[in-house]
This record gives sequence, structure tokens and C-alpha cells, in this order.
Amino acid sequence: MMVKFPYTEKVLEHFRNPRNVGKIENPDGKAIEGSPACGDMVAVYLKVDEGTRRITDIKFESYGCASNIATGSIITELAKGKTLEEAKKITWKEAADALGGLPPIKAHCSVLAVEGLRAAIRDYEERHGLTQAREPTTVDVIKHRLKHVMNPLTGLDVVRADLIRDVEVKDGKVRIVVDLASSHQFANAIREDIKEKIEPLWDVKTIEIEFAG
Ligand code: FES
Repeated sequence: MMVKFPYTEKVLEHFRNPRNVGKIENPDGKAIEGSPACGDMVAVYLKVDEGTRRITDIKFESYGCASNIATGSIITELAKGKTLEEAKKITWKEAADALGGLPPIKAHCSVLAVEGLRAAIRDYEERHGLTQAREPTTVDVIKHRLKHVMNPLTGLDVVRADLIRDVEVKDGKVRIVVDLASSHQFANAIREDIKEKIEPLWDVKTIEIEFAG
């Protein structure tokens, strides 16, 4: 019996030959987003022309399913050459339509890819002082960011892996206590990753990361 995939030819073609897969060294913006629906992840990297704010290069890495890979492929094609403002407006529906449709149960996979693109744009904007909404950083904001820091040992983010013992935010100073020994093999990697996620916040001046396992 022949197995019939619930995917269009276009989805299968993008899944088999995804465009713009990989990493960009020294990207101008990047993000890793996880899907609350399935726990899969996608990373998006951008190169942006400073003068025109156009996306000159874009790459993605997917740790998700075929639908996610296909959507990652199509959104990178749609976003390349667009200005950040234009690229922000790409919707998951547009991406899914460009693929000839996705099974409804797979909608979250294209949402994930589009969220990845938007988060990478936001990262660029934060690093270049372009964000308008200047909400003060709170413990919740920090915790939200920490959900994007992975513990390589478990494949879970440090919040879900229950590694964050304490977070304090006061006068631009952020203090994070991690429930791991400082001699842990991944302590340094996690420290760097936390710094990278917290540093772009506009009102954060110093970050103290303590390992107390
Ligand atoms: Fe997780 Fe598709 S099922 S990205």
C-alpha cells in the first residue's frame, strides 16, 4: 500500500530541499524560538543593511518537523530583500498559503517559524536601539528570556529544567542564581547564553550570574 502524506508537493519539496538552511557567523540579529505546542525549536539569523534596513541575508536551523522546516524555508525566501518593517508583516497564514496549505494540526509549526523571524528582527531592533516600546525590565521579562536558554544536557530550557533558583532586578542590575555547580561542564556555556539573552534589554546595565548548585 502506498503511504499518502497529508502534505502538498510544495511542502515536500521545501522539506527535501530547504532554502537558506544554516547559521550566519556574526549575525546582526538572531533568535531561537521554542513552540509551546510541541516543544520544537527554530533558530533564525539575519544580516541587515544598516542604511536601508533591508534583510540582505537570512538563514535558519530547524529542530522541528517537516512542516516547520518547509515553513522556515519559505519564510526565509519571503523575507530576503524585504525591509524589517515589511518582513515583520509576514504572517504564518501567508507562509502556509505559499506552501499550498498545511494540515490544520500543523498550524503551530508555521507559527513557530514566523515567531522565529519576528524574534530575530526584535533582537536586531533591540541591539540597534530601535525599539519603541520601552517597557522596564521585570523579573517576568527576564524569566521569559531565560526560557530561550537551553541546558544542553536535558534539551530543556533552564526554566523548565528548574535550574533558575532566583532572579532579582533592581536599578538596572540583574542577578540570576542558577542551581548548578560552577564546575559543571555546561556552566560556562549557560552563563554565556544567559548574558547574550539579557544584555540587549535596554535598561539592563549589569548582569550577575551566580552558580550555586
Ligand atoms: Fe513541532 Fe511541527 S510538530 S514544529
